[in-house]
Amino acid sequence: MAAKRDLVSMLDVRDDLVGLLELAGKIKNRTKAGEPYEPLRGKSLAMIFEKASTRTRVSFEVGMTQLGGHALFLSPNDTQVGRGETIADTARVLSRYVDGIMYRAFRRESVRELASNATVPVINGLDDKEHPCQIISDLFTIQERKRSLLGLKLAYIGDGNNVCNSLLLGTAIVGMHMTAACPAGHEPDAELLAEARHIAKANGARLDIERDPMVAAKKADFLYTDVWVSMGQEKEREEREQAFKAYQINAKLLKAAKEDALVMHCLPAHRGLEITDYVMDGPQSIVFDQAENRLHAQKAILARLLAGV
Ligand code: CP
Ligand code: NVA
Repeated sequence: MAAKRDLVSMLDVRDDLVGLLELAGKIKNRTKAGEPYEPLRGKSLAMIFEKASTRTRVSFEVGMTQLGGHALFLSPNDTQVGRGETIADTARVLSRYVDGIMYRAFRRESVRELASNATVPVINGLDDKEHPCQIISDLFTIQERKRSLLGLKLAYIGDGNNVCNSLLLGTAIVGMHMTAACPAGHEPDAELLAEARHIAKANGARLDIERDPMVAAKKADFLYTDVWVSMGQEKEREEREQAFKAYQINAKLLKAAKEDALVMHCLPAHRGLEITDYVMDGPQSIVFDQAENRLHAQKAILARLLAGV
């Protein structure tokens, strides 16, 4: 029997990212044509959420249903996980019932522990280091708009957080250039950046870290931002809102990018902080396409990991 496949980091799909994007396109086309596609008939996915979610929860649950399977929402508040049952034991127990586990966690170590003790595939639904499902689907959104990803330039404006880390790895894998403009002390994870740069080099891509958002935005094909205060950082809100004040995607910044640049945000957005209404609701914004594509791209991930499609 083939070893189970987990998706904890973008590095886990390094050799299959192009294939996954292609599968996502096929699955989206079938869905749009109203053609049933149910490779996960009879299969179940457990979804553990330590943090809030709208898109991840709904898109995974609906995705499982559309693929012929079923998803269960598990909150630490109403399961034994929250009462001290270990992650390892939870992994062993859930593996006896379900065919895959999606986990949104505070800590990367928790996701690793679940993955190493589960005998079924584990999918990272966001942790402190990365958000791989978001970035796989964002690359799918970019590909839909531009066909070839190679050599495109993405400028990320704001916090060097989980989304930024996965974007660095994802763009490196597909050969896109990326510049992240972050204030001092809020740069991306050094280890993941080094890994991403290593991959980028082999693929002819450049990854830069900048202070000045205007410099980063110059000639960009895509501008991307995320919240200044991620889940779990609520106590730092005031200090962060000060530090990130100049890191907003607004009309002026948009002008610095290519004329036909497109604007992305993984959502939820804090309008008036990291992005203005003018940009988010404007003709260059593709944020709601990104949200929709979570469904299609994750169906590809689920079909691949749970049924070997
Ligand atoms: N982008 C994203 O993961 O959204 P949710 O937190 O709503 O799942
Ligand atoms: N960086 C954000 C992403 C939310 C989808 C967070 O971790 O809260």
